[in-house]
Amino acid sequence: MQGNDGDDGEGRYRVDIPAELVETIRKARHVVVLTGAGTSAESGVPTFREAQTGLWAQYDPQELATPQAFQRNPRLVWEWYAWRRSLVARAQPNPGHAALVELEQRVPQFTLITQNVDGLHQRAGSQRVIELHGNIARTKRFDDHVVVEKWKETGEVPPRCPTTGSLLRPDVVWFGEMLPEPALRAAMDAATTCDLFLSVGTSGVVQPAASLPLIAQQAGATLVVINLDVTPHVSPRACHLCGPSGVVLPSLVQAAWPVEEKGDA
Ligand code: OAD
Repeated sequence: MQGNDGDDGEGRYRVDIPAELVETIRKARHVVVLTGAGTSAESGVPTFREAQTGLWAQYDPQELATPQAFQRNPRLVWEWYAWRRSLVARAQPNPGHAALVELEQRVPQFTLITQNVDGLHQRAGSQRVIELHGNIARTKRFDDHVVVEKWKETGEVPPRCPTTGSLLRPDVVWFGEMLPEPALRAAMDAATTCDLFLSVGTSGVVQPAASLPLIAQQAGATLVVINLDVTPHVSPRACHLCGPSGVVLPSLVQAAWPVEEKGDA
């Protein structure tokens, strides 16, 4: 299965969804979607690994996204995440997020797994989201990872937990840290039991999330990869739909459950 894409001659991006895939999605009992930073790119949130614009092209993750980096320079790390938090707060969900909300309503069972920490799926209206890498809007204690809702602004950066005095940090997974166990278990369970798995806007190089599409495929699910390009490391048996997720996802939902556009006869 291979989708065709391109300009429709009138400047609109067009995605042809293979008829076989339309059938698969309409008949699916359990659809799992794994999203990555590309899903939020059209909302203006930078991705990580794109050559010019990715965050890791401009910043060193070893200086910003490890427990050791925080211990060396907690102020730098806190301020970098505060900058990203403000960027995310200004961003709006895009049509790709909206299409996933609709998909959740259309299929009997739906599981949305995200590597994103921006909360845009929830803001778009997705009901149940498994956050593998945490959420940048939440804060927790550095010492024991307990989430803290309120603290006094004393001018100290980062602030401290009012109960224990521990430095506070964002509730995101850093390099070298374990993923939250319940989230990972739920994601693995969903991958092994679904019949259709969509991998959207992820480079698929960060484990264990990168294994989920292959686990699903080995368990018998149809695998669809939605990305700007054909991603090299995923199975050749995957169906690749190339294009921005903000266009491809709405096209997929529209192809499966056509709704007449306003103005149509
Ligand atoms: P990456 O930055 O590694 O990959 C983003 C992918 O999205 C690339 O393959 C792009 O081609 C694709 N892409 C960009 N714009 C797109 C669009 N509009 N539509 C569809 N695809 C698009 O981001 P992730 O795979 O999410 O971890 O990275 C995984 C993890 O690495 C992140 O969760 C983060 C990072 O370090 C943590 O922070 C723990």
